[in-house]
Amino acid sequence: MATELELEEETEMKMVKLGSYEGKVRLLMVGGESESAAEETMLLWGIQQPTLSKPNAFVAQSSLNLRIDACGHSITILQSPSSLGTPGVTGSVMWDSGVVLGKFLEHSVDSGMLSLQGKKIVELGSGCGLVGCIAALLGAQVILTDLPDRMRLLKKNIETNLRPGELRGSAIVKELTWGDDPDQELIEPLPDYVLGSDVIYSEGAVLDLLDTLLQLCGNRTTIFLAGELRNDTVLEYFLEAAMKDFVVGRVDQTQWHPDYCSPRVVMYILVKK
Ligand SMILES: C[S@@+](CC[C@H](N)C(=O)[O-])C[C@H]1O[C@@H](n2cnc3c(N)ncnc32)[C@H](O)[C@@H]1O
Repeated sequence: MATELELEEETEMKMVKLGSYEGKVRLLMVGGESESAAEETMLLWGIQQPTLSKPNAFVAQSSLNLRIDACGHSITILQSPSSLGTPGVTGSVMWDSGVVLGKFLEHSVDSGMLSLQGKKIVELGSGCGLVGCIAALLGAQVILTDLPDRMRLLKKNIETNLRPGELRGSAIVKELTWGDDPDQELIEPLPDYVLGSDVIYSEGAVLDLLDTLLQLCGNRTTIFLAGELRNDTVLEYFLEAAMKDFVVGRVDQTQWHPDYCSPRVVMYILVKK
């Protein structure tokens, strides 16, 4: 098996700036889409060895709520652990990559790498809504979306955490099933940012997710996707398909919030080709 150093040397990855994020990211583009996707998953599993570290490091999925400090607020996210047993329900509790993405946004704004003030954001597969709540606290106009049966908990979490008088941005909730035509409100105007955490986990949903990303994405839209390293086949399939329409870059963990890094999580920026 190749050592960490050999794996890094084998892959000549270019560092570039993508979209409205001021930091540099590792461009995924070694050869064709399929080679690049295979190389990326091999590197991630080879270097980060995700299976050796603890899953759910930042969330307690059996708890009825998750407390987290962000943007000077103490956020309480209500969870429904019992719903997790229902087939097809995954958004009733928070996942690590949501916490990582939310804290990354806060860290990037604080360090001047990102500006969300007054920007339009659509979040996909919001689940319990932590990422969208943090984006609204950072001044964005956020539309949190998910499947119809996720709306109740999502609305409750927004009401619990975002009080209009104290908020720099705004947050509303809308149903959006990937692959369906998005509501006009989501695409007119097209969002400045699209966010998603732990939305790449089912091979069957990959093409619908990409279809929705394409519909939401204009020339000035920056997509941030954070994901859990559970299944290399699904991630490779996603990346290969995504690279046909998007330029994809990986955000190094050195740029994440220092207290919220995990070898089981990966983060990408996508912009339309
Ligand atoms: C693993 S959860 C992640 C939730 C949240 N983003 C987080 O990080 O905690 C995946 C989310 O995607 C949503 N989802 C799955 N398939 C979907 C689809 N076809 N259309 C819209 N949302 C979907 C689920 O309802 C769920 O909220």
